[in-house]
Amino acid sequence: MLLSIENLYVKYGNIEALHGLSFHVNEGEIVTLIGANGAGKSTTLKSIMRLPPPEAPKVSGGDILFKGKSLLNVEPHDVVSKLHIALVPEGRHIFGNLTVMENLMLATYARKNDPAISRDLERIFDLFPRLAERRTQRSDTLSGGEQQMLAVGRALMTSCEVLLLDEPSMGLAPLLMYEMFRTLKELNREGLTIIVVEQNARLALQVASRGYVLDTGEIVAQGPSDALLNDPEVKKAYLGG
Ligand SMILES: Nc1ncnc2c1ncn2[C@@H]1O[C@H](COP(=O)(O)OP(=O)(O)OP(=O)(O)O)[C@@H](O)[C@H]1O
Ligand SMILES: [Mg+2]
Repeated sequence: MLLSIENLYVKYGNIEALHGLSFHVNEGEIVTLIGANGAGKSTTLKSIMRLPPPEAPKVSGGDILFKGKSLLNVEPHDVVSKLHIALVPEGRHIFGNLTVMENLMLATYARKNDPAISRDLERIFDLFPRLAERRTQRSDTLSGGEQQMLAVGRALMTSCEVLLLDEPSMGLAPLLMYEMFRTLKELNREGLTIIVVEQNARLALQVASRGYVLDTGEIVAQGPSDALLNDPEVKKAYLGG
């Protein structure tokens, strides 16, 4: 087991957002967390990244284990640079006044003179040729889809082994949405472990091996993606019948 969320309780001030959440991710898997607005999906990812409040809430119970060790006292920058976990946040958060290339290189600051940086950059331009064409363009002039590619590329530039994505399909036209998920699948085949949070549950379950359904801070269903796709309750509530 690579990552294990164990009976996790987290609070924003006095309001509890996760009530005893448990799930796990094995090395090399794609796992999806699905659920309605406000279910606690982003909160879960932010908790793993150890973002400080108010971005992420305070853990009031339970644990988050990565390779068997608790993440609770790990600094956010160490989660990225030492444990090689990266987040593509909801809403992308790229630096609009910087170019594509500057955004990508900013993510490598902790890698010093790692000779693999240029190889990783080439790989990202391979995966997203549009970013290569636009490498000197200011990021706030990119289309929404291109910005999402940049957000994924930036996370990959940290040389992550585990990638967390919060709603990567948001705002993308169907074609780009499928392309994004195809790219995730390809990265996974090369060994990247992926946790993807999605409102487009059907699409997410088509690429993930397993899924968990979150409802108001708790897991209410889980299983192999096929089983969830065919589960009448899940279908009715999350897959449009
Ligand atoms: N910074 C914050 N301060 C207070 N409450 C918060 C904060 N961020 C989230 N919450 C609350 O925590 C709960 C879970 O929110 P979260 O953003 O994790 O949901 P989500 O599943 O990602 O929803 P969505 O699909 O809309 O992105 C919600 O009730 C939300 O209002
Ligand atoms: Mg969210």
